[in-house]
Amino acid sequence: MIRLDKYLADMGVGTRTEVKRLIRQGKITVNGITEKSADTKLEERNALVALEGRAISYAQYEYYMLNKPAGVVSARSDKREKTVLDLMESGKRKDLSPVGRLDKDTVGLLLLTNDGALAHRLLSPKKHVDKTYYARVKGFVTEDTVMQFGEGLDIGEGQEEWTMPASLRIIRQGDISEIRLTLQEGKYHQVKRMFQAVGMEVLYLKRETFGVLTLDSSLAEGEYRRLTNEEMELLL
Ligand code: URA
Repeated sequence: MIRLDKYLADMGVGTRTEVKRLIRQGKITVNGITEKSADTKLEERNALVALEGRAISYAQYEYYMLNKPAGVVSARSDKREKTVLDLMESGKRKDLSPVGRLDKDTVGLLLLTNDGALAHRLLSPKKHVDKTYYARVKGFVTEDTVMQFGEGLDIGEGQEEWTMPASLRIIRQGDISEIRLTLQEGKYHQVKRMFQAVGMEVLYLKRETFGVLTLDSSLAEGEYRRLTNEEMELLL
């Protein structure tokens, strides 16, 4: 059961104050009857709610893919920094969270949802959800680096912290090299720390895939969209 004003606000009809006004103005019907009380409780799966005759069905969970730009943090709110949720329209439901984190300067694929169980599954270290990154690094990446990453390496500071085998592919070798790296885990600053461990520095980092999801190349940095039905099927 859910309050009528929360139902409408969750579905992006407006803020809690705005939807209360719409309710008072008699613009909302529940099961065909005008409902003027914001605290009326509904069964969200069965109630037929409409705004001026237009049906508003309740989606319990929502899933978005964002192409995260640099300069925003992967958090729901932050006292000082702009967050990924600040990039979403104000009408969006307020209970979305990013699934995992990308560093402030990392760009690329970030999933946002209010489906906590799915987020938990995707982030569980036991599930080994693959993530692929494209990076430009300062340093000459060689087949030796590929071997080291493939075997797993110690990225610990003070005490040992070993990474799982990771697949490194060289796109371009040079003083600045370009690579693709697939990890099956997500340790803190993992890509940067792996290159640091072999004496190199990550200059640019972009996440291209997360589990079954691939970043939609038509999304510019800062843009987002709902997952398609096909992506949802793969994910769930
Ligand atoms: N590894 C990093 O170092 N940073 C990220 O944002 C993601 C993976």
